[in-house]
Amino acid sequence: MYNSKVIGLGKYVPERVVTNEELTRYMDTSDEWIRERTGIEQRHWVAEGDGNTTAVMGAKAARQALERAGLKPSDIDFIVFATLSPEFFFPGSGVLLQELLEMPTVGALDVRNQCSGFVYATAVADQFIKTGMYKNVLVVGSEIQSTGLDVSTRGRGVSVIFGDGAGAMILTRTEEKKKGLLAHSLHSEGKYADQLTVKYPASSFPSQKYFEHLQQNPDETGHFPYMNGNFVFKNAVVRFQEAIAEVLQKAGMSKEDLDLLIPHQANLRISQFIQKMFGLKDHQVYNNIQKYGNTTAASIPIALTEAWEAGKIKENDIVVLAAFGSGFTWGANLIKW
Ligand code: ACO
Repeated sequence: MYNSKVIGLGKYVPERVVTNEELTRYMDTSDEWIRERTGIEQRHWVAEGDGNTTAVMGAKAARQALERAGLKPSDIDFIVFATLSPEFFFPGSGVLLQELLEMPTVGALDVRNQCSGFVYATAVADQFIKTGMYKNVLVVGSEIQSTGLDVSTRGRGVSVIFGDGAGAMILTRTEEKKKGLLAHSLHSEGKYADQLTVKYPASSFPSQKYFEHLQQNPDETGHFPYMNGNFVFKNAVVRFQEAIAEVLQKAGMSKEDLDLLIPHQANLRISQFIQKMFGLKDHQVYNNIQKYGNTTAASIPIALTEAWEAGKIKENDIVVLAAFGSGFTWGANLIKW
């Protein structure tokens, strides 16, 4: 068995910055409410005509990661693309990325695990490398949330949270057994599928019928994200802790070994709660939700890239990525850098 390690990181966010103040023009909300409940000060949203799509943003992040890894697109053996906001119902964004990067006809797998998407994608990529099937795997998380939100007072409980962006990571094969990706934790609990969801149109309520229904019921909101915020919050704080504890235990480590935690940026209060539970100091938890909001599958690779750029990750550091989101799904990856 081989092992895999990170050799390149990249990120991209659209230029347009949307402040909390700007949101007050579209809905009944306030900078104070958003900051107090979530920690978010601004987010980046795509702008009409800026050329950004989910795969285009993923490609921008991927090019940076490739350059930093000293690799060409043709060196990549496989793509794992995590997103809940693909360009199309099908095909997925992974194949569009393969074309944009002018790569050979390598395999491209889309992962649909929402906020946990990048953690799942990382675990999947690692398995391909560990078994020896592939050498270099490109893992991407990219989201355009803004175009699917209800940006009115009706949708304020959800729409103030989400941002757009992309992050990318390149994993490569290593012979070192005690370094690189050492443990993963992946979980799901489908009985709560309806607690955080975009329901329609889909196979359970196909487009034609749904559009007719919408004409007769203009207040229908099934095509917008729905989140039972409090319930999600309560589950998130428990599941985050479990996933982090599980990867530490699988790697034969304890919380004292942890150098840097990169939690999915769902809510600053969730991150602070986890920090307290594990007795971590401020410099041991990386947060950037203040600038970007919740970018779902992109939030961990964007944060990981920023933490690395800021020199917060050193050789041999124990870094844990952890996420919780719609599904419910949750999980963590433990990396010895
Ligand atoms: N501005 C002003 N008031 C608002 C807003 C807003 N943007 N949104 C809601 N309110 C109001 C509500 O109407 C409610 O008013 P009421 O008391 O008169 O009924 C009040 O504020 C409190 O609303 P709550 O929903 O109880 O607020 P809460 O403190 O729970 O915060 C939040 C909401 C931020 C969504 C929080 O619950 C949360 O972060 N949940 C977890 C999010 C998460 O982890 N998601 C997982 C990842 S996402 C994914 O997987 C796609």
